[in-house]
Amino acid sequence: MREIKNMSVLITGGGSGIGEGTARYFAERGARVTITGRRRDKIDAVAASIGPACRAVVGDVTVQADRQAMLAAAVEHGGKLDVLVSNAANMYRQAVDSYTEDFLKEAFNTNVISGMMLSSLAVPLLEPTQGAIIFIGSVHNRRAFPGASPYATTKAAIEGLTRVMAAELGRRKIRVGCIVPGAVNTEINVRAGVFTADQAESRYAGIAKDHALGRIGSVMEIAEGIEYLVRAEWVTGVALEVDGGLGLGVSSF
Ligand SMILES: NC(=O)c1ccc[n+]([C@@H]2O[C@H](COP(=O)([O-])OP(=O)(O)OC[C@H]3O[C@@H](n4cnc5c(N)ncnc54)[C@H](OP(=O)(O)O)[C@@H]3O)[C@@H](O)[C@H]2O)c1
Repeated sequence: MREIKNMSVLITGGGSGIGEGTARYFAERGARVTITGRRRDKIDAVAASIGPACRAVVGDVTVQADRQAMLAAAVEHGGKLDVLVSNAANMYRQAVDSYTEDFLKEAFNTNVISGMMLSSLAVPLLEPTQGAIIFIGSVHNRRAFPGASPYATTKAAIEGLTRVMAAELGRRKIRVGCIVPGAVNTEINVRAGVFTADQAESRYAGIAKDHALGRIGSVMEIAEGIEYLVRAEWVTGVALEVDGGLGLGVSSF
């Protein structure tokens, strides 16, 4: 297993939720962490509370110049690049009979194409370190949530991408993995305007029983899964469910 200590890790969407938790988790284990996001106040607050191991760089993953700048910042901060955690994404919900083309294009641009483009730029940096690219999928491809097809299809694409990218980059000793989280209480739905904060709280409480283990997960439990994929040297191309058994579709029949 690889050691986390002294790794240089770039985490997109590190100003909140799973990205923030992953930044804390890796910094606590001795990594040099660079986080990005569009809201300066969010990423600066996370970096300030983590300390010198964490650097915050404002950036939008849909913008090529920003993608180049975030990778350059990670190399500057960590002296190299060992891991790209392509975590930034948004929730996109739209009913099938209300699809709009611009909305669907934005969903795929943000949730899929940005990670592909960032990975493309990262490959030459990850080759010398025999590094890893970690994507974040979703339980939306294990359980079907009506109204969420735009989001679910972007996350299905991420799983397909993981396999092909792993096959393609394996000979260059770059590993690629995907974590498939269950429900974790973050700001993703509130940020998208899908739920109010109160509605989100009650929805997360309501979905706890659908997990085989009877509760939703924490950002640190997702970070543990990411750590495994980063450290395990003979694992690539896998989608690892870290979902408390939500994806099992437990039935009481
Ligand atoms: N929470 C769950 O239950 C759950 C379950 C399955 C999968 N996931 C996945 O987990 C990942 C993290 O989500 P989360 O739940 O932690 O939500 P979150 O707290 O909303 O975090 C997402 C982060 O991505 C950033 N972001 C969004 N668009 C961006 C862009 N264009 N450029 C740069 N940064 C951008 C956001 O910051 P800015 O708005 O400041 O840019 C935000 O900090 C996502 O891939 C999500 O799909 C979450």
